[in-house]
Amino acid sequence: MPKSERFLQACRRESVDATPVWLMRQAGRYMSEYRALRERYSILELIKTPDLATEVTLQPIRAFNLDAAIIFADILPILETMGLDLKFVKGDGPVISNPLRSGADVDRLATPSPEEALGFTLQAIRQVKTELAGKVPLIGFSGAPFTLASYAIEGGSSRNYMTAKTLMYEHPSTWHKLMAKLATAIGNYLKAQAEAGADALQLFDSWVGALSPADYQEYVMPYSQQAIQIARSGPKVPLIHFGTGTAGILHLIKEAGGDVIGIDWRIAFEAADRLLGPEVAIQGNLDPIVLFAPIPEIKKQAAKILDAARNRPGHIFNLGHGIHKDTPVDHVAALIDFVHEYSLKERQHP
Ligand code: CP3
Repeated sequence: MPKSERFLQACRRESVDATPVWLMRQAGRYMSEYRALRERYSILELIKTPDLATEVTLQPIRAFNLDAAIIFADILPILETMGLDLKFVKGDGPVISNPLRSGADVDRLATPSPEEALGFTLQAIRQVKTELAGKVPLIGFSGAPFTLASYAIEGGSSRNYMTAKTLMYEHPSTWHKLMAKLATAIGNYLKAQAEAGADALQLFDSWVGALSPADYQEYVMPYSQQAIQIARSGPKVPLIHFGTGTAGILHLIKEAGGDVIGIDWRIAFEAADRLLGPEVAIQGNLDPIVLFAPIPEIKKQAAKILDAARNRPGHIFNLGHGIHKDTPVDHVAALIDFVHEYSLKERQHP
């Protein structure tokens, strides 16, 4: 039983009837409906065709009692609009064949308006909003400057970000120029999504946990801050700031901005609660691999998180990272229903 207001109320740290839940990457390959469409279309075709992106966004909403939808898109197409050549290669994930390596490469980056560059996602947002008709809110999103810079420089996924960090240390002025360009593009894109109707925004800094606190502060934080500031100049919608491996920099992530801070499972909920304090809501933080466990174990782990969050206004239940493509669908349904039932009971019998 999703309720249309629950998710946004929790973002604002207002009281809720039950804890809202959605799952990062909730539209995707673990669902047979998604796999059926992927037999006919590539991931980029799904993203760039508003009718298809709308359909995929709604698939998990029809299948589960989720409290929010997230627009079907990806963090990487924005790099394509800036002049990078993006492909998703089966088995290898994303590949950029002309990665950034010099100041001249950064100077050449284009800065088109969100409407001309990513109009397909803005159009999909408008269509999803019409289809949802207020049933649940819609989340728009973007990658954050560091996570996007790491793909743009490495040319794909990376284990230790050696190329990106080397450029950062060796050519700081090139790094800062790149981060400023990304922050502007990201901020404008987030703002355009809110203008198109997104009810909340999430900034994905998935790989930011690779940085030391000092490097985060010097090389990254000002640009996440800048992107958030630009996003905030648009419609007043809650902003979720998410990263993984952030236990050592949570206070800085909070300082960079966000109404909701997304955490992964490598930090205990109680510890994150203490570090973040009551001024922000928290989103998280079940290990996505727990969804492969027997259902009683899934419930036990979810209850532990809900117990830790029970006295805090502002908890949105989520995984600590995207759902794995082989996750059993019945386990997903069981988790979502359990979060509602358990938190409802907790609130009735405090
Ligand atoms: O959450 C949702 O349902 C919305 C859709 C969404 C996708 N990607 C669709 C997608 C979102 C929010 C993302 C974000 C994203 N994309 C992130 C940040 C979140 C995270 O997981 O850290 C990152 C790092 C990416 C980059 C990306 N996109 C990678 C590394 C890959 C390939 C790896 C993989 O899982 O195969 C993608 C592809 C991608 N984006 C898929 C989906 C459903 C799977 C591709 C497919 O259908 O073949």
